[in-house]
Amino acid sequence: LPPRWLMLDDTSRNIVNIHSMVNGVCQLYRQEENATNELIRTFETRDDDVFVCTFSKSGTTWVQQIITLLLNGGVQGEKSYSEAVPWMEWLTFKFGEHEDPAIRDAEAKGWTLATIKSTPDRRFMKTHANLKNLPAGSAKGLKVIYVARNPKDVCVSLYHHVKNKRPDTFSGEFSDHIRSFVEGSQMNGPWFDHVLEWWEAANADPEHILFLHYEAMLAEPQEHIRKIAEFAGINYTPDILAKADAASSLSAMKRNPKTNLYPSKKHLRKGGAGGWRDSFTVRESEAFDEIYREQMEGSGLRMDFGE
Ligand code: A3P
Repeated sequence: LPPRWLMLDDTSRNIVNIHSMVNGVCQLYRQEENATNELIRTFETRDDDVFVCTFSKSGTTWVQQIITLLLNGGVQGEKSYSEAVPWMEWLTFKFGEHEDPAIRDAEAKGWTLATIKSTPDRRFMKTHANLKNLPAGSAKGLKVIYVARNPKDVCVSLYHHVKNKRPDTFSGEFSDHIRSFVEGSQMNGPWFDHVLEWWEAANADPEHILFLHYEAMLAEPQEHIRKIAEFAGINYTPDILAKADAASSLSAMKRNPKTNLYPSKKHLRKGGAGGWRDSFTVRESEAFDEIYREQMEGSGLRMDFGE
């Protein structure tokens, strides 16, 4: 752990809990790690592929939904976001073995690795890959839409994600969770590295990587929907943008059974910026900020993410 973080360790933290949570959360991914590595190595990308890439809990579903709507004239069609923009890593998992039928059905619908490899349609895919884990393939033109969110809000969101979706894996407190978040024990490593490497890549190659801020999307959703359409080369009109805006708000997505795919798991929870204030103590927040400054120094990425 970074030394400053250890300062928070004033009482008897339950390290076992932290590790059991981390292991539990990653278990699903680890069991298919070889398959995912194989996929990354062999997946043939195409020049017109678009990946929606995030560190988990940063607005992935929101951008998937925006693309789903843009591809259908701004309105919800037959396809849910997980069908229109399937999750690449998920394609290698053994859906049939996922113990939760709601998640299994919602995420797996209609897609297999074989179908995504052979589809004649243009492909939009979701991934949580680090820069090095994006399938390189041979395509030079493929594009990535990366979304980053204030890490303190990501940290809170991830905590609820674990509690709601994998309650079997974590019995710790929020403070334990912050430690593991900072430690970077999640499936894609530390948040700091994930965001930083994509940020630098986007600055170096803005034609192929669009770097979005969740908080800026909240402030100007329609402008960001336009940016996404333009970047991905999807035709749009002001009417399509307005409709897509209305159908991708958090409240609209909560009401829509095609976007609120498993309401009992509270995937669409609270949303918004700055909710971390209800969960972090002042001391935890200050220690987190200190680590942020150390890790992200010189990057130009502000801690508040324009909140
Ligand atoms: P909270 O847990 O803070 O509510 P992901 O899709 O990457 O897993 O991210 C999930 C987070 O994005 C959740 O955050 C969820 O509420 C939020 N979210 C989903 N759709 C959204 C929308 N249309 N507008 C704002 N936030 C949204």
